Amino acid sequence: MKKQVIGVVGCGNISDIYLENLTGIFKDLVEVKSCTDLSRQRREEKAEKYGVEAVGSLEDMLADPEIDIILNLTTPPVHAGVDLAAVQAGKHVFSEKPLAVTLDEAASVLGEAKQKGVRVGCAPDTFLGAGIQTARHLIDEGVIGDVVSVSACMACHGHESWHPNPEFYYQTGGGPMMDMGPYYLTALVNLAGPITRVAGMANKAFGTRIMTSPERNGDTVEVEIMTHVTGAIEFAGGAAGTIITSFDIWKSDIPRIEVHGTKGSLSIPDPNTFGKGGNELLLCKGSSGEWETVPLTGFSYEENSRGLGVVDMALAIGQDRPHRASGELAGNVLEAMIGFEIAAESGKYYELSKRLNMRPAAMVKGIKAGARWK
Ligand SMILES: NC(=O)c1ccc[n+]([C@@H]2O[C@H](COP(=O)([O-])OP(=O)(O)OC[C@H]3O[C@@H](n4cnc5c(N)ncnc54)[C@H](O)[C@@H]3O)[C@@H](O)[C@H]2O)c1
Repeated sequence: MKKQVIGVVGCGNISDIYLENLTGIFKDLVEVKSCTDLSRQRREEKAEKYGVEAVGSLEDMLADPEIDIILNLTTPPVHAGVDLAAVQAGKHVFSEKPLAVTLDEAASVLGEAKQKGVRVGCAPDTFLGAGIQTARHLIDEGVIGDVVSVSACMACHGHESWHPNPEFYYQTGGGPMMDMGPYYLTALVNLAGPITRVAGMANKAFGTRIMTSPERNGDTVEVEIMTHVTGAIEFAGGAAGTIITSFDIWKSDIPRIEVHGTKGSLSIPDPNTFGKGGNELLLCKGSSGEWETVPLTGFSYEENSRGLGVVDMALAIGQDRPHRASGELAGNVLEAMIGFEIAAESGKYYELSKRLNMRPAAMVKGIKAGARWK
């Protein structure tokens, strides 16, 4: 099977783990040919570090007939523009999250890709890791019965304490829901099915944030978006959910994700990890009243395996099957995230468009890391 060839756009903070994994643990499954960034220094630095070509512009990368997939690691307001350019050039595209910052942008990327016959994939891909896949397997096996409710919470105090360029977190397309919601909601759709309807409330504790990262200590950033967003969620299968995402909370012990079924409950590992490095997967069966730890032994990729989603898409192209971290899935998640704020403003439920066939296939159990999967 032909190895799909990837060009990376955006050589910032997150590009290292992608480039490290795609040229490391995934090197037998895909090839990274080149990278580009508006900053010459960044693109040349990453190119040298990972042994790929530095390309001067996105246009030059799109003109390269050897590139099959554009991996878009730019900041959120730029995602849709880069995706659209890639799709119009006849390339498949896999974007960092969120898919876009408006529903119109997302629709135009997905619509254009359909017309051109190319694929759109989107982060996060953490739900393909051992943590959430083990939970999915337990749910599919009926261990907790029918899923009736879920809860999710992402509480922190923002990113200006560590990120050297934190502005985008506080501009349109940023905020706790658009930034972290994709991990939580993608995990929930994978575990409980597509989202059909949401309600929401939102607010903002600080109009200005003061950076404390070593590079920008004392600089300020104006906050354009809501920094505390809560929502109620209805799933197609009938389950009811709640979510809190916040950049305004100093400390919280609310569990990250719990899934409750008719026969038991699951406490899910941090969906911003692949299974390791956060909380354990816990199962409580029926009336036992006790959590038991579930080992993540059946599935690979429990370490930081960013790139897993684009590799799944690359394999899916060769195998002519749907890829898991799909644009449709990201579209459902984006619509829910925007829907919470629309509902908060209007005081009414927000009904999502019908995307009922986008719950991704579960990963195959027992595949060794680095081996091909279907
Ligand atoms: N930093 C993290 O820990 C993290 C984790 C997971 C996901 N993400 C996501 O990854 C994306 C990138 O985040 P980041 O932290 O790496 O941001 P960053 O600002 O560090 O890097 C983004 C890079 O994209 C480049 N860029 C912007 N527009 C471009 C264009 N038109 N053509 C070429 N290059 C362009 C910028 O010059 C910059 O180097 C965001 O969507 C973010 O949500 C970040």
